Amino acid sequence: MSVYVVVGGFYGDEGKGKVLSYLALKDNADLGVRGGVGPNAGHTVIHNGREYKLRQIPSAFVNERALLLIGPGVLVNPEVFLSEVSSTGVEGRVFLDGHCGIIEPKHVEADRGSEHLRGRVGTTGTGTGPANADRALRRLKLARDIPYLTKFVEDVPFLVNEAIDSGKRVLIEGTQGTFLSLWHTDHYPYCTSKDTTASAICSDVGVGPKKVDEIVVVFKSYVTRVGGGPLEGEYSVEEAKRRGLYEVATVTGRVRRAAPFNFKLARRAVMLNSATQIALTKLDILFPEIRGVTKSDALTGEARDFIEKVEDEVGVPVTLISTGPDSLHMIDLREEKL
Ligand code: IMP
Ligand code: MG
Repeated sequence: MSVYVVVGGFYGDEGKGKVLSYLALKDNADLGVRGGVGPNAGHTVIHNGREYKLRQIPSAFVNERALLLIGPGVLVNPEVFLSEVSSTGVEGRVFLDGHCGIIEPKHVEADRGSEHLRGRVGTTGTGTGPANADRALRRLKLARDIPYLTKFVEDVPFLVNEAIDSGKRVLIEGTQGTFLSLWHTDHYPYCTSKDTTASAICSDVGVGPKKVDEIVVVFKSYVTRVGGGPLEGEYSVEEAKRRGLYEVATVTGRVRRAAPFNFKLARRAVMLNSATQIALTKLDILFPEIRGVTKSDALTGEARDFIEKVEDEVGVPVTLISTGPDSLHMIDLREEKL
């Protein structure tokens, strides 16, 4: 591993936290830096029997020697940030950029109180849209303006570029998913308040496109979506339950709408992100026999066929296959062939 960007390929909740935590451990990342919108994202990481739901801290925290950074493009809710610093015990190795925008209670109220945002778009109600609107109006407070955050403030783009230039292993963490992008969705206004593709994630942390080695797009083995907007092939709640696809959202506790894997969207996500690898998650939900396996020879014929179909239809190799919730429940085909 050198410089990896990990992004979501559908509508968020693809299992990016899981993939990032695996890479942080397996490749012994020196640095994990989070891009994306802000605390509207919830990345679930299960490691050493403990479950973490991270809305601000990079998922690479599971590697105890990794430096953890939050890029200037990311919105920070100080309350959420500080509570995660304490629940993960990462103080001393986590820093945010002075240019990170600050979500204040008034942004959360504006998000939750808006019929358009909360009612129609179905936002997470975390204040990210109103805060990004204030940022565009150039009146949002920045992290550098908040005295009690001073000890966490660093020049994040400088630290990330310095690490890359000296050959360190860097994991750049995307949030949300490609089709929640403000630019690239077909379903405006059912989207988030920024672009969410790999280029935007790199910009969020201050890294130019030439410095990236690998772009991993994460697809869940089926599609889920929370909030409003179309979902092709959507199952009824009963059907989703019957198929074992019933999920509850990390940040909001809402039921996630579910649909089958969408090859057309996956192809477009690969194009929009210039993905070099695919991570396929929750394959054990479609094929329960493979739960927890870590070697490809333990895959069943049906599971193999599905992976090959994804590769054939999407045109990029599947390199990481998640077979269970723990960070280490992963088949790594970067080393092994199917
Ligand atoms: P907002 O980002 O809170 O403004 O919400 C806008 C839309 O994006 C809504 O449909 C949310 O459910 C969705 N969304 C935002 N962040 C995430 C995420 O991390 N996972 C899944 N859906 C998200
Ligand atoms: Mg999530």
